[in-house]
Amino acid sequence: MKSIKGYIALFGVALLFSCAARKEQTKNVSTSDPEIEQLLSRMTVREKIGQMTQLNLDVVCVGEIYKLSEPHRIDSDKLRKAVVEYGVGSILNCGGHAYPRAQWLEIIGEIQRVAMNDSRLKIPVLYGIDAIHGANYVMGSTLFPQPLAQAATFNAELVEKGAQITAYETRAVGIPWNFSPVLDVARNPLWSRFFETYGEDPLVCAELGTAAIRGYQSKRKEAFVAGCMKHFLGYSGMRTGKDRTPALIPNITLREIYLPPFEKAVNTGALTVMINSGEINGVPVHASKEILTGLLRDELKFEGIAVTDWEDVMKLHLNHRVAENLKEATFLAMEAGIDMCMVPNDYQFSDLLLELVNEGRISEERLNTSVRRILKVKHVLGLLEKSLVPRMEDYPDFNSMASRNAALTMAQEAMTLLENRNNVLPIKKGSKVFLTGPAAHSMSMLNGAWTRTWQGVDTIWDDTSMLTIKKALEQKEVMVDYYKGVEVNAALDLEGALMRAKKSEVIVVCIGENPSTEKPGDIDDLSMSEAQLNYVERLTETGIPVVLVLVENRPLLVNKIADKVDAVVLAYQPGDYGGQALANVLLGEVSPSGKLPFTYPRYNHSLLTYDHKYTETLDQQFGNKAFRPQWEFGHGLTYAQLSYSNLTVEKAQGDALIVKVTISNPSGYTVNESVLLFIRDMYASVTPHTKKLRQFSKVKVGPRSQVNVSFTVPKEDLMFYNAQGVKVFEPGSFEVQIESLKKEIRVP
Ligand code: BGC
Repeated sequence: MKSIKGYIALFGVALLFSCAARKEQTKNVSTSDPEIEQLLSRMTVREKIGQMTQLNLDVVCVGEIYKLSEPHRIDSDKLRKAVVEYGVGSILNCGGHAYPRAQWLEIIGEIQRVAMNDSRLKIPVLYGIDAIHGANYVMGSTLFPQPLAQAATFNAELVEKGAQITAYETRAVGIPWNFSPVLDVARNPLWSRFFETYGEDPLVCAELGTAAIRGYQSKRKEAFVAGCMKHFLGYSGMRTGKDRTPALIPNITLREIYLPPFEKAVNTGALTVMINSGEINGVPVHASKEILTGLLRDELKFEGIAVTDWEDVMKLHLNHRVAENLKEATFLAMEAGIDMCMVPNDYQFSDLLLELVNEGRISEERLNTSVRRILKVKHVLGLLEKSLVPRMEDYPDFNSMASRNAALTMAQEAMTLLENRNNVLPIKKGSKVFLTGPAAHSMSMLNGAWTRTWQGVDTIWDDTSMLTIKKALEQKEVMVDYYKGVEVNAALDLEGALMRAKKSEVIVVCIGENPSTEKPGDIDDLSMSEAQLNYVERLTETGIPVVLVLVENRPLLVNKIADKVDAVVLAYQPGDYGGQALANVLLGEVSPSGKLPFTYPRYNHSLLTYDHKYTETLDQQFGNKAFRPQWEFGHGLTYAQLSYSNLTVEKAQGDALIVKVTISNPSGYTVNESVLLFIRDMYASVTPHTKKLRQFSKVKVGPRSQVNVSFTVPKEDLMFYNAQGVKVFEPGSFEVQIESLKKEIRVP
């Protein structure tokens, strides 16, 4: 349990930071490497361990952990114990819900004031937070679509821009560290954190994940936060789909599927990494020297901070049961290679690590290795050299119109049109629309978890100035009759709803699931709730065209209704501007252009990803029809009836492949088209995938125009891991595919 729901918001009028206070936070520690070494040489063992300790904000606030007194404020005795006595180097999170900017500035200001004035070495605290789709713990910040929706845009530029804005609005409250992006590749749709990922493909996760890192760690000093690659490694590969349960991952799969996003992010300069709470092949990752030192440090050459996840040292003892007590758990994690422990609710890690050092089981040199990394990140973030806590007026562009427009653009580009039978969409102006379903008038369903609170379900935090789908549609030239009709998990008033539905020309029914993440989001069945399925089915029996809108954390099964409705739009969790984005798409003011970043399953027990093996396509008649998802990876319609032609493949120098294709747009719409290039290795010593995404790009195709797109694929991109775990290229035939066009070519 890490947050408490149901708090009544009682925001005090927070004090702004005075200039005098700001002056106190001037340069105290110099920054070059020799100076970091010198600082290190002045530190006691206790102070070094302090730098490696990360505490929850609750520990230093008035009240009890998870039961803070409102409004949350620092308890100065507790803070002094942490920062002065224990020399704690990092604090995280909020006490269960978001704060207004002024309150954040007061809290962060006080923490840094004590660190800079009262601690012996005057080293500032590295504050970290989960700002995963905007600065979601800062009231009034710009909320973007969740990462899975961002992935549906296949647009790295938009993702980078969104991350830059998030960084700006996070740094605006003096927080320089963001626990984002999630680089876990989503291979199991049951997983409660599916929406936090960039989907099921390693390349998409790598490209968009590193775009996010570039955005967080951009050159704009005032908008620079450290990104955090999560969760190293294999977290999303759990067998059952339940959060933090065991994964069995063969080496080839680990390297081919789970590693690439992290590898690319390390090469992009990501400053920090968070460890996977789960286990791989029986070894909890927090205790795996092979992964945390062999792979992360020796092979990938990562030099930043490796922070544990929440209570994960303790969990080596309590949950994983690989350590008899907490002290042995601390020893194991230190041996494996962690730098900082997200303890986060007590001082046991600090006390036990001190005992281990005093007993000679952990060397001081081992501490130095981690503390050096921590101080370097503090230096890179500018914490050691300049004023730490900004003033409100330093951030005039907080939630600016430009930022909000960026969130709207992203939400619009994410909307994925999965079906559009008889061109029921776009809805004609002047139509009578019956708008219904639990997602039609809910901001929390649009935003999902990590929105103002951890689970994001508590509607008291909704920004009521934002437009739900209902409010957004009411602003359009249509006549809207709204009636909820059904709850997420229970019937409401079917007969009443049907009576109203029959008076309309088109029904828009918005269903899905309540926000959740991590353990609270575990499910036993991937099906959409019976209540909602029955409701939609009955609506389709009216004979009036039905547009189904899905607002969900993960792809809930809708096979019972998918063929009965006329159109399906997957809205994902599109954020604060999702209502507007959807309304713009439904009315045809923009064409949808999102494409599925995962395979939408049809059945509970057929959860194949698009890059499955050939044998997995074999059906009972020995044909190739066994792979029959509801909708395929990369699927997404537009209003423009785009067509692809002239696929050519040539070999260039070094046997790189030059692939060209033409896209024609006969319509009056502009489409931001995602062009996906798949190349299939026809025969290989390790069974090849039936399809594999090798590159993608985003092109604007104007009304009644043609665009030529060209890709250059170096031969190395056709390599794979062989049975010995070595990355190799094997000559032979390759099939190139864009949309339904295919060409085979031999590569020597
Ligand atoms: C999650 C992390 C998150 C951390 C801090 C953990 O429970 O797994 O993704 O960054 O909490 O909130």
